[in-house]
Parts: sequence; structure tokens; C-alpha cells
Amino acid sequence: MNQTTKYVLPEKDMPDAWYNINADMPVSPGPVLHPQTQEPVTPDFLMALFPQEFVMQAVSGERYISIPGPVMDIYRLWRPSPLYRARRLEQALDTPAHIYYKYEGVSPVGSHKPNTAVAQAYYASQEGVAGFTTETGAGQWGSALAMACNFFDLACKVFMVRVSFHQKPYRRVIMESYGAEVSASPSPETQFGASLYDADPDHPGSLGIAISEAVEMAATSNGKYKYSLGSVLGPVLMHQTIIGLEALKQFELAGEYPDILIGCVGGGSNFSGFAFPFIQRKLAGEADSRVLAVEPTACPTLTKGLYTFDYGDTARMAPIVKMHTLGHTFVPAGIHAGGLRYHGMAPHICALYDHGDIEARAVGQVETFEAALQFARAEGILVAPETAHAVRAAIDEALLAREAGEKKVIAFNLSGHGYFDLAAYDQFLKGELTHFEYPAEQVESAMEALPNVSVG
Ligand SMILES: Cc1ncc(COP(=O)(O)O)c(C=O)c1O
Repeated sequence: MNQTTKYVLPEKDMPDAWYNINADMPVSPGPVLHPQTQEPVTPDFLMALFPQEFVMQAVSGERYISIPGPVMDIYRLWRPSPLYRARRLEQALDTPAHIYYKYEGVSPVGSHKPNTAVAQAYYASQEGVAGFTTETGAGQWGSALAMACNFFDLACKVFMVRVSFHQKPYRRVIMESYGAEVSASPSPETQFGASLYDADPDHPGSLGIAISEAVEMAATSNGKYKYSLGSVLGPVLMHQTIIGLEALKQFELAGEYPDILIGCVGGGSNFSGFAFPFIQRKLAGEADSRVLAVEPTACPTLTKGLYTFDYGDTARMAPIVKMHTLGHTFVPAGIHAGGLRYHGMAPHICALYDHGDIEARAVGQVETFEAALQFARAEGILVAPETAHAVRAAIDEALLAREAGEKKVIAFNLSGHGYFDLAAYDQFLKGELTHFEYPAEQVESAMEALPNVSVG
């Protein structure tokens, strides 16, 4: 009997609008506050940093927003991405569960990140911006933005978290191949970066610090650069919903509907992109799925962080938002999942988590690599260390289904491949990977630096 393994949508069935969850949020994700005045930000403040269209999308209540033609044209280079049924993994686990994964590693740079990078670069090019500054953790986001800027003739300046800069040198080479300029962060090139770099040239860096450097450079460029963020903000999550919108159609082809949806969370973009279109159905009472966000024990924002107002970056230049946070001064351990080393989380996800619409779980570095290897040996794909967190949870849910003798339909977002993360796999295979527990003391001291915001 022929069994379908890949559910492939024809190009003509690619969705032509993103889903904007602002239209359906059961609770408010909270206001965006100015980092100095702590008053709600004005559009002017945001437009100095971000393209105007991006700011308009952040406040839009339209349920669907059309994807511009030039963005669709670039999406077609790899979209629609395939939905796989992981039959060989199911067999290896001897589980009655059906396991599916949406494979975003088919994009030219190997992850979901171009879904928003291309949109942001398009809007910036339409508004006459010369280029973008940005941060990158593992280098996936930087590669995506470098590619997108190259397509739209924009300059691209990337601050790459130092620990990743050294762990993943080939990511830098990709970014430079597209024409981007890359610096290890903290760098001596910005005032804030220099304040840390001068004290410790080997400072491992963090996403919060790299964001500060990128924001500072854009803010002091006299309008030459805008700043681009690869996660956290509403429009970024929205651009990623092309993933879940495609997946909904692909599950129709498969004749199944997920009982549980899983994604790893750093700032929350791939998880949101995959899950929000399904959450829309859940909120409308049309279908029910459990939705699970998976994070590292070394940076357990949702499961251990406080739900409060905090700065988006370390230097307190980015807006203050309401989110689960470990404190903007918290510097996570140098785990290989560089893209999950962020002290905060997308406000939309935090509001949904707080409201009980989604669940969260933290998993350790060693067991995530064990899951990634098991997945590679069954399905062939070596996943990114970030994605391995989702794989761990998917395998654990499939094992629970085996124990219970239940045919659950489990779906996870395979946010990226790990072919530039081989140093991490090498360490794992040599038994040299470190397990990091929750750094309670460090978080406690970072909490002392939270802003004292009076807005409810
Ligand atoms: C492959 C991959 N997955 C997940 C993430 C986490 O980011 P987000 O939570 O925004 O999807 C990253 C970030 O760098 C990534 O590169």
C-alpha cells in the first residue's frame, strides 16, 4: 500500500494573506511603552526605528493582511513548505501517535526566518530606507535578513552574539556572501557595546545586548538605517503565520487534525507562525488542540520568568512591553540553541499563556540533542539546536501516547535545519555537552533591574 509521507501544496494554493491574531486576542498583550518616559509610545517613536508599514501592522486590527506581490514572488522560491508525516520516527518509537512536522528548513537559508525578513526588507525598500541593522543569535536570522536585504538592494549590518559568532563561523560567511557586514557583539562599534567590550573583550554577549547595539546604530544613523527585529513583535509573528495557514490546508489533505501543536520558543516567532492559525480555530470554538511552547532550562522565560513590564534589550533603548521575562540584564549560559537565549518573549504569546490558551515546558540541552539524534536517525534531517527542543517535546508526547495506548496526532514546527550547527553535534557525539539547570540566583539579581512601571 502506498503511504503518503509528504503533503505538498501546489504553488497556486499558497495563502496570499497573513493571519493577524490582533483581531481575535482574548486578552490584550498590553501597551508598548517608551523606554525613557514609560508612557505609551507614539507612532513617531516607532517609525524612527521601524518601517512605517511595519508599525501600521503592529496596531492593525484587520484579521487578514495581504502579502505584497514581490514578497509572494520571493516566497515561491521555497514555499509552500512541505508537511511531513514522520512515519519512520513513529515506528522507531513504536507509538500509535501520528507525528507530523512542517519543514521550514527548505528556505534558502535553512529556517523560517525569511518569512518576515523578506516582508520587512520589501517595506523598507518601498520607503526609501538605505539599510537595516539587526542582531542575530545563532545566525539564522542574520542570514535571512542578509538575503532579503540583498534581494531588495538594502545594506545590512548584523551584530552577532559573540558566543555564536565563534560557535557558528559559517553563518557569518553566509551573511557576508549576501553582502552583509557582521560584527561580534558586544562590539567596540557602538557606545553600549564598547562599554562591555572594553571591560571584557571575550564577553559572550546575549540577544538583549546585540539588540541594544543594533538599535543604537539605527537610532544614531540620521535615518540611514532602520532596525529590523526577527522575532517578538506582532508583525513578525504575523508574517510567520504563512506556516500555519499552509499547514491547515495540508492537514486537510492528510485528513487529520492535530491534537497537539508544538514549537520551540526564543522570541516566539516560529511557534506563533505555526500555531496562531490553529489557535484562531480554538478561540472560535471550531476545533481544539493543545498548544505547547518549548524552551531551554538555561533560559526558561515562560516557565520561570515573571509576567511583568520589561525592556526588550539590555541597554534599555528598546520599548518596554509586558512579557514573561528573566530580566533584561540576564545573560543566559552559552547553550548551542543561540536563538533561544532571549530574556523575554513575544507579548502575544505571554498573554495567551497567562490566559491558559497555551502551555509551556522547559527542556535541557543534553536531552534535546538526544532527541535530535533520534530524529535524524529515523527521518534523516539534522535539526537546528533550537528546533531540537520541539523535537524533544514531540517525542515525549509520542511516548506518553504509547503508554496510554492513544492515537494522538502530534504536529511540530521544524523551524530550521542544523547543517551549520555541526560543532554542537560534534560536542554532543563526543559526550562533551553540558547540561544547564535553571540559573535561579542570576535571574533573581536580574529581576532587581526591572523597570518600575505603574500601567496595569
Ligand atoms: C531555527 C530556529 N528556530 C527557532 C528560533 C527561535 O526564534 P523564534 O522563537 O523567534 O522562532 C531561531 C532563532 O534564531 C532559529 O534560528
